[in-house]
Amino acid sequence: MPDRPDWTWEYEGYDPAQERLRESLCTLGNGYFATRGAAPECTADSVHYPGTYAAGCYNRLTSDVAGHQVENEDMVNLPNWLPLRFRTGSGTWLSPDTHKLLDHHQRLDLRSGTLERTLRYEDESGRHLAVRQLRLVHMVDPHLALLRTEFTAEGWSGEIEVESALDGTVTNTGVERYRSLASRHLTHVHAGTATDDTVWLRCRTSTSDIRIGLAARTVTGASAETRTAHEGTRAAYLLHIPVTDGRTVTVDKTVALHTTRDPAISDPLHAAVDRVSRAPDFAALLTSHRTAWQQLWRNAELDVPNSAGPILRLHLFHVLQTLSPHTADLDVGVPARGLHGEAYRGHVFWDELFVLPYLNLHFPEVSRALLTYRHRRLGRACSAARDAGHTGAMYPWQSGSNGREETQQLHLNPRSGRWLPDHSHLQHHVGSAIAYNVWQYCEASGDAEFLHTKGAEMLVQIARFWAGIAAYDATLGRYRIRGVVGPDEYHEAYPGADKPGLDDNAYTNVTASWVLARTLDVLRGLPEPRRRDLFERTALDPGELNAWEDVSRKLHVPFHDEVISQFAGYGDLAELDWDGYRERYGDIRRLDRILEAEGDTVNRYQASKQADVLMLGYLFSPAELRSLFRRLGYELDDATWQRTVDHYLRRTSHGSTLSSLVHGWVLARARRADAWTYVHEALAGDIADLQGGTTGEGIHLGAMAGTLDLVQRGLTGLEPRGGALRLDPVPLPELSEYGFAIRYRGHWGVQLRLCSGELRITVPASDRDPIDIALADRTVSVAPGESCTLALPDR
Ligand code: BGC
Repeated sequence: MPDRPDWTWEYEGYDPAQERLRESLCTLGNGYFATRGAAPECTADSVHYPGTYAAGCYNRLTSDVAGHQVENEDMVNLPNWLPLRFRTGSGTWLSPDTHKLLDHHQRLDLRSGTLERTLRYEDESGRHLAVRQLRLVHMVDPHLALLRTEFTAEGWSGEIEVESALDGTVTNTGVERYRSLASRHLTHVHAGTATDDTVWLRCRTSTSDIRIGLAARTVTGASAETRTAHEGTRAAYLLHIPVTDGRTVTVDKTVALHTTRDPAISDPLHAAVDRVSRAPDFAALLTSHRTAWQQLWRNAELDVPNSAGPILRLHLFHVLQTLSPHTADLDVGVPARGLHGEAYRGHVFWDELFVLPYLNLHFPEVSRALLTYRHRRLGRACSAARDAGHTGAMYPWQSGSNGREETQQLHLNPRSGRWLPDHSHLQHHVGSAIAYNVWQYCEASGDAEFLHTKGAEMLVQIARFWAGIAAYDATLGRYRIRGVVGPDEYHEAYPGADKPGLDDNAYTNVTASWVLARTLDVLRGLPEPRRRDLFERTALDPGELNAWEDVSRKLHVPFHDEVISQFAGYGDLAELDWDGYRERYGDIRRLDRILEAEGDTVNRYQASKQADVLMLGYLFSPAELRSLFRRLGYELDDATWQRTVDHYLRRTSHGSTLSSLVHGWVLARARRADAWTYVHEALAGDIADLQGGTTGEGIHLGAMAGTLDLVQRGLTGLEPRGGALRLDPVPLPELSEYGFAIRYRGHWGVQLRLCSGELRITVPASDRDPIDIALADRTVSVAPGESCTLALPDR
């Protein structure tokens, strides 16, 4: 665990076994691109993995897997801009793996968005060289990055040689499980010299044909002898710098990155060379970068005084580096693993469900852009539905460049070494996540324009998909959705079945009913001209709406033993010997892999990877969930919900970081005494790498953002609804004091602070209308420039 004073995240010493994890957690980014916190003097090997990823920059490659030709789309590892190696006199290049490191310290400064590294090497002749490095990925100019290195000879004078490079030899090999797949995404790599101190590298992605240009300008205050030494696909600039005992010399490397996905450029290489030549000096870039971060922190203020505070701040830092205000100008979705590594290939899943509700109340324009990413791919989702014999929009479980289904066809079980068919693309519930986010975003921002245009178009097609795929079963007198996979990805088929998919997944059906009901509400509220346009555009007819109404009220939700069944027949599955497996394997998070390696299958058991039915308690407040069930003709009383929570809690292995988050959230209301264990696990997920080595392959963005939202919406019960802010705080003793600021319907910096059973709301002065705050027993109106303190009812 790192030392962590409030605003810094620090690692002492060099530990090769921890390096990948630290690289992920020390990644710096600005929403446009990010670079892992790798040591600049090291190249990719079994310890180090320098990776740079630009949001939305994907490429497809075909690989031969177990005799099948499979195509995968990956977020491309771009040429490495970090390389800066050095040696003393004629010694060998210094590296933590070959030379003695006298000390090594890393310090991620969250307030300033910088990563500092201080270290001291001993060379072959026993001479000491102190090195201090500071790097940033610029938050104002998203195309710029900077690496300052200071060298100090200790006890000797002579010369050091420094090589500052741009490395185009990189491949996508950051994830062990994908190693046997094709990984070379960059072609036509060329290196060259622009001016005395500037080298460049250009290349393109092999199939998506994105052209990439990088330029690096390296300057030193010392009198150095310099030359270029390009080697094929690596641009290099060499500096011979005289050093004097105790005197520090500085080398600044400024890098610019452009791709043909950028607006307003004609040629990425020229743009990069031009940008780097005009870039201000180190001090000016650092100042503007720090100011941008200060503004970000003000807009996303979160104050949690206890030990959770620094972790939440780190989570917020990584969320803001992946999805920054720059994201608002990009055509990108929410990459499940940030821009921090190659796990899940940079794909976009339903994880935005855990991210947008947080962003909506801070950076609504970023949420809007992320939803627009989905809207741009609505046509593709409609084609996917048509191709599968359905109507409406069938959004892909994994989305990348163009909204095609990118879920891998085969996945490797590293335990058994077997490649297995992957049916997770049957998680059509992703469509409901998109619809939920459209609704949430519009409620929080009041963006009627989006709701009435792109939002309504997506809602209509997602609702249409659900109504179309639901088939009436006369025996049950209900509609059934068959052949799907729910959020718990363990269950993909009935035991012994010859085709994948399960019937009547409760989460899928209840959320589908919600989508249908909300879409009908939105259609009713549309201004008449817009309603006509939308009906024409989507060929909607009133008969279809009647069918939606009917389906929304009659979708089947299965029950067994007085609890909601995860899917039809779930109650007939075998019970797993949880204690026996825990005893035998210790960590059973990936129970699916354990059972498969034993020649068994998790499909046979009442065992879930993550919250599935319980996700309903994450998305909907208790009152809303009751009314949803009532609409469907079921009475969901507290006792049934409580039994349901207890049932799944005992049968979930938490094989996803999202699981502990959702359980913590749900238990805070349903079984408070147990909630903290899960909240704590959600907080520790990435910093302690609880999913066994996966954080080194990229952070878990959904869980990180989810923990922020746990404070913001989970514990406060905050719901922007119908133009008012509803609050229903629930006390969690371990997280009983907190404050944060939100942006709400044109009000900036609305402060909410919960402390000693009181809630204080402060609305900054502006010419906006007062904000209506609704608690269970009263509604108050807080005018701009005013504060209000409310005593909370005992719970
Ligand atoms: C989880 C999914 C999630 C995906 C990407 C999987 O392990 O089961 O729910 O969407 O990771 O984060």
